Amino acid sequence: MLTLSGVGKRYPTGDRALKDIELTLPKGQVMALIGPSGAGKSTLIRCVNRLVEPTQGSIRLEDTELTKLSGHKLRHARRSMGMIFQEYALVDRLTVMENVLSGQLGYVGFWRSFLRRYPQEAVVEAFRLLERVGLPHAIDKRADALSGGQRQRVGIARALLQSPKLLLVDEPTASLDPKTSRQIMRLIRELCAERELAAIINIHDVALAQQFADRIVGLRAGEIVFDGLPSELDSEMLTTIYGEEEWDTTPEPMDDEAADDAPVDPPYARVMSSIEAGAVR
Ligand SMILES: Nc1ncnc2c1ncn2[C@@H]1O[C@H](COP(=O)(O)OP(=O)(O)OP(=O)(O)O)[C@@H](O)[C@H]1O
Ligand SMILES: [Mg+2]
Repeated sequence: MLTLSGVGKRYPTGDRALKDIELTLPKGQVMALIGPSGAGKSTLIRCVNRLVEPTQGSIRLEDTELTKLSGHKLRHARRSMGMIFQEYALVDRLTVMENVLSGQLGYVGFWRSFLRRYPQEAVVEAFRLLERVGLPHAIDKRADALSGGQRQRVGIARALLQSPKLLLVDEPTASLDPKTSRQIMRLIRELCAERELAAIINIHDVALAQQFADRIVGLRAGEIVFDGLPSELDSEMLTTIYGEEEWDTTPEPMDDEAADDAPVDPPYARVMSSIEAGAVR
């Protein structure tokens, strides 16, 4: 349902953030996009909804070529893509309900939404969604009175209010504790299954990606270096994606003999064991 072919992005600064990306996402597939900081994950997601203009290639969502759209056609296409950001992307001074209803902006127009007049059906649907994401009692709370996990649930409800076909999710768990992170990922996963939504989820936590995604794509320096099943992502592949230096934070051993006896680098061991634990759902 989503196809990127030959997609490239060069920022005006000269940074080539994406190089010749080929990617097809079938309906209903949850894909995790992993890779080191600066690999181009956010750029890729933003090229899809055209918050960033790709400088090369084609991006098709079903029958629509997204790279050629402008004006109201672009706004229309964006409605079929729900964005979920880190949980702080809410309007603090607005209530939970108002934040969710702001997901209707593309439908009701700026002024109507500015005046906070929403169609009755939208309000009913927002209620339903808040119930589904586990926040039926918080509708009148101000967003700044919520915990990080609750805020992310509001963000999810807001993205779903526009009945998207595709979810674009940028680091949904970046500042959440491990348990809340798993709950949020599970919720996104379940909602995708219920609504046959495809999703691209940028995520730094490899174990979470393996636990909740159908497919993992690894980006490195703007190129896809891995595209496969969560179970196919082994330590060698992680090194290809993240590079040796990401893992190796212990001081260099003095000589070769010492290298043989060197204990496994703790951060690396921790990541690997959490992956092994996480791989069992
Ligand atoms: N607005 C911009 N102007 C110029 N260069 C940019 C811009 N946004 C990103 N870049 C560059 O593009 C490359 C990819 O950045 P991007 O934000 O897509 O990476 P990322 O994989 O999302 O990283 P992170 O994990 O840190 O969020 C980086 O080299 C970055 O410096
Ligand atoms: Mg990013």
